[in-house]
Amino acid sequence: MSTPHIAAESSQIAERILLPGDPLRAKFIAENFLEGAVEYTHIRNNLGYTGTYKGVPVSVQATGMGMPSISIYAHELMKVFGCQKLIRVGTCGAMHEDLNLKDVLIAQASTTDSGMMKSIFGPIMNYAPIADFTLLRRAAENAEKMNLPVKVGNVFSCDRFYDDDVDNDRLRKYGILAVEMESAALYTIAAEFHRQALSIFTVSDHLLKHQACTAEERQTTFTDMIELALATIIED
Ligand code: HPA
Repeated sequence: MSTPHIAAESSQIAERILLPGDPLRAKFIAENFLEGAVEYTHIRNNLGYTGTYKGVPVSVQATGMGMPSISIYAHELMKVFGCQKLIRVGTCGAMHEDLNLKDVLIAQASTTDSGMMKSIFGPIMNYAPIADFTLLRRAAENAEKMNLPVKVGNVFSCDRFYDDDVDNDRLRKYGILAVEMESAALYTIAAEFHRQALSIFTVSDHLLKHQACTAEERQTTFTDMIELALATIIED
């Protein structure tokens, strides 16, 4: 039963799914981390694959960038394809001195000024999109087992990548670690459908230190993040 954006039968998509923004990252994950991965969709080039990891069926679906785009995929994956555990694997811009390029970060919660949230909640302006606690706890435990230092905290999910007007100092003052563009929507839609969702990131650029990762650096830390996400998503 295909949807407007995902051409697949329900049986072709696993209950456990990783969600990178970038279609080529979805392809990279499928080819390098999953066994027997088969492409199930390429509508709009937002590629989706299903394979296995340590014997457990796992899918990976590109979501595109930003909350309107990930909302479409999250909604269809949960409502039509029955996905139960969804882990976004993406990049973020660090906003805190304590963070460095290549660090891995887990979003415990997401703060947002997104217009999308306003359209969902109307006057309830302070809805708090949060990670699923079980996935969050397991990801933190798995990171420890892997000797992978991770930061866990609040991120800012913004609508505008190029935004000179945003008050970064205020966000930093209230503990926001990093900025990205999808998690508030993912966490909110998971709450709507009673599903488990988590976002894990690597720091690809630093808003305070004005640094950015090279392509090669992105690749290495990306591997740590994917291994952490996969170890976490296959647990019951
Ligand atoms: N802003 C928003 N989203 C991002 C950034 C950023 O600087 N880096 C990675 N994702």
